Amino acid sequence: MPPLLQESDEASRLSSVGVQFLSRLKKIWPLDRNAAAVARPATPPPCEDRPCSVIETVVKESEIRFRLPLDAAGIGVYEFDYEAWTLKADRRTSEIVGGVLPAEVPVSMNGPELAEFARRVHPEDQDAYWNAALSIRSGASNNFAIEFRWEHPDGSWRWLKARGAAFSHRPGTRWLYNIVMDITATVEIEERLERLVQERTCALTETARELLAEMERRELVQATLAQTQKMEALGQLTSGIVHDCNNILFILTNVLRHITKKTTDSEIRRWADTGEKAAARATGLFEHLLAFARREAVKPVRIDLNSILAETKQLVRHCVGSQVNLIVKEAPDLWPVVADKNRLEVALLNLATNARDAMPRGGTLAISAHNLPADAPRDEACPSGDCVVISVADTGTGMPPDVVARALEPFFTTKGVGKGTGLGLAMVHSFASQSNGGLAICTAPGEGTAIDIFLPRNDAAEPDDADDAVPDPSVYGHPKILVVDDDELVRALTSGLLDDMGNTVG
Ligand SMILES: Nc1ncnc2c1ncn2[C@@H]1O[C@H](COP(=O)(O)OP(=O)(O)OP(=O)(O)O)[C@@H](O)[C@H]1O
Ligand SMILES: [Mg+2]
Repeated sequence: MPPLLQESDEASRLSSVGVQFLSRLKKIWPLDRNAAAVARPATPPPCEDRPCSVIETVVKESEIRFRLPLDAAGIGVYEFDYEAWTLKADRRTSEIVGGVLPAEVPVSMNGPELAEFARRVHPEDQDAYWNAALSIRSGASNNFAIEFRWEHPDGSWRWLKARGAAFSHRPGTRWLYNIVMDITATVEIEERLERLVQERTCALTETARELLAEMERRELVQATLAQTQKMEALGQLTSGIVHDCNNILFILTNVLRHITKKTTDSEIRRWADTGEKAAARATGLFEHLLAFARREAVKPVRIDLNSILAETKQLVRHCVGSQVNLIVKEAPDLWPVVADKNRLEVALLNLATNARDAMPRGGTLAISAHNLPADAPRDEACPSGDCVVISVADTGTGMPPDVVARALEPFFTTKGVGKGTGLGLAMVHSFASQSNGGLAICTAPGEGTAIDIFLPRNDAAEPDDADDAVPDPSVYGHPKILVVDDDELVRALTSGLLDDMGNTVG
């Protein structure tokens, strides 16, 4: 092949003349394309076989400059001549479309080739394809740009990208020059990338979700641990204080009782009496404290809940007053449960007191019990297996979520100073837990409150209370009593009292 560009000045000059000539020729020739075609000389033999003219060299160079990047990028070129109503595709375009359009041969736009090409456009891209084609043909747009799926004759789907520009040489004529690329590989890579990004995003989201759940679980465990430790510390502190106070109360109570017994002075007796009552109230309060601290001696017995409900009814009636409509519903065939009877009664009284306080203008308090079979749906606080549920429900103020969250905490109260100790529900909860049961609060502001105590069914025989049996003096005679206590005052007082009663104290 001859050199395309000569280094000499003469060659540069000739080259520039050639370019100008060519561009003029290109401008003129299409105006009378047919005539020019007729007048065109026969195609000269290829340049390889003879010396080439300057114009031929320039045209060849221009052609190569034009083709080189297109070939390197795998880009095909095709053109529509709306005057001749033909389409001409180059070799690359023909290759891209698997020969559906012939290479370098004008075909009619009404011919079977273009119809076949259009038929192969993906059904979902047909509208876009035709809209783009029509807007160019009608002159509404001079730019053609579309990407569409196209069915290759080998049966595969390809992504084709076409770009083009339309222009007119004179009124009534219209040409459209297009380039086309097979971008299937790029689209597939993009799709793979997109899928990968989506998968990674999903995996990351899932990991983040798990992490969040794990953090929540940890927070819950930490909160539970902190709460348990707090309760344990409070329990230890409380039981320590209560133990010491009980010793003092024991001494006070007995000294006052002793004074009452020994004195004949009515005024002193009255003072001692008042002191003894105050000490008894303090003893009651400390019993509550011990109950919550779980250090109170529990005396579980087989309980017939119906009889407890009947017995408690009177007490509750006095406690809630006449403004409250009290309904106590017994249930036949309640399963037996084992629990500390006194503590159950105190628990019911505590719940009734709370209900009363929540209904300052009156309302209804319903206390009932029912069996909950093992397979029945239940609150998570309820133990598995057969249970009996004691329910205390009121139509009072209900509790907002922040109060429910803390209601079982010892010393938590919303009642004014001196009106509530905040130990009521803590004690009921402690009673339920110690009885191997549970407690659930169902409440909402303005909707009232229902508190359920779950106690497991227990058909076992009555727990052995032989330890509580009082020794029969006729069997043991009058033994010498050994008094043991770590508190010197208590020891001295107990010895004195026993001695006073005629016993021999060692
Ligand atoms: N039935 C109820 N209706 C509305 N709020 C209630 C009810 N029961 C308990 N509460 C709320 O829970 C808090 C804690 O109750 P808890 O019985 O432990 O203590 P208290 O009643 O305040 O004091 P105490 O029972 O020691 O006299 C109450 O102060 C109250 O805010
Ligand atoms: Mg209370």
